[in-house]
Amino acid sequence: MVLGSIVFFIKLESIDELVTKLAERESRPLVEDKTQLEYLNCDRQECVQYLSQAMYKHIEMGHFIIVELYDRSKKKVVEVASPDANTVHSYEKLVVKEKRTHKFKDTVSYHRLYYSGTIFLQVFVPLKEAGGSIAGYFEGVYRVDESTMKGIVDLLIGSLLLVVISVFATTAIVYPIIIVMNKDLIKLSGDLSEANIGMLIALGSAIAKRDSDTNIHNYRVTIYAVKLGEIAGLSKEGLRSLIKGSFLHDIGKIAISDNILLKPGKLTDEEFEIMKTHVFHGDDIVGKYNWLKDSIDVVRYHHEKIDGSGYLTGLKGDGIPLNARIFAIADVFDALTSKRPYKEPFTYEQTISILEDGRHTHFDPILLDIFFRISKDIYDSFCKAEDTFLEHYLNGIIKRYF
Ligand SMILES: [Fe+2]
Repeated sequence: MVLGSIVFFIKLESIDELVTKLAERESRPLVEDKTQLEYLNCDRQECVQYLSQAMYKHIEMGHFIIVELYDRSKKKVVEVASPDANTVHSYEKLVVKEKRTHKFKDTVSYHRLYYSGTIFLQVFVPLKEAGGSIAGYFEGVYRVDESTMKGIVDLLIGSLLLVVISVFATTAIVYPIIIVMNKDLIKLSGDLSEANIGMLIALGSAIAKRDSDTNIHNYRVTIYAVKLGEIAGLSKEGLRSLIKGSFLHDIGKIAISDNILLKPGKLTDEEFEIMKTHVFHGDDIVGKYNWLKDSIDVVRYHHEKIDGSGYLTGLKGDGIPLNARIFAIADVFDALTSKRPYKEPFTYEQTISILEDGRHTHFDPILLDIFFRISKDIYDSFCKAEDTFLEHYLNGIIKRYF
């Protein structure tokens, strides 16, 4: 369409030029006739008669439909119009009236009019004597004849057709190439995404294996956090960050020595201080990789508490990133409902009661209320589910969001 419009306007310019040349060629004998110039400024009746006849003859033989002659004092001497000029005369008069102020200039001027399918050209020529002084003015309306008009229309249609054919031909050649290239790009991008998710799972599993013999805790907390995130209205982007963060939340434990990480009994205060630094190490690990950077909200702040008593920074309330507040509920819910070497799983009711105790101290009360709407379903569907089911379910979530 853009190309078509450009060609159309270029062609209009050339049509203007063509019509102007035609009108100029036909008006030349009129404006160069010496006798007519002399008669123009003579007051005698026979002069006017001579000029009228000459103009009328010209109109009969040529394409001008209206011709007007003015003497040097800009007084109209002759006005001749062809009989069929009436159809356009009123319109032409209007335009001429509008242009009055531009009339009687010292230079030749043209004005193109398009009226009921025909091009008209209003021509204005100052008539000059041998010495260069103005002897009068010629004004005429030139009508482009039917065959020329047909030629112009054919030229326009031909040019536009050529543009359309060129564009379609180019598209036909380029389109298959783009499709093939795009296919490669989609495949590459899919491979890259798969590699990234693979790395995410490998990293998460690596630390889970060190901490315990199974990485199923990671699967469950990710499923719980996503369920809560979805119902809390997180965007797709937010949910992607939440999935990454949930999977990698304890990645920093890689930097904690075995005698603290795997200690069967209670940690001493000093050991606990070292244990706390896992959130800092986690930040250090994921923060360097662009694709994982958005998991920092969970990795760094998942041990913060709503009243500011958490670690490592002691943020409170809304100061704690939303994903970290969501994850904290999922993490504690899973810890309470799971079997650990030092405890049996709590019942659903005991779990809810403990979570409720943490309202206003550990957990965001609004998020906690949202979680309670789905917690029973989650407990029934996932808490005692087989590992393969959890793995399959999580794969579905990953497919949905990545
Ligand atoms: Fe942690």
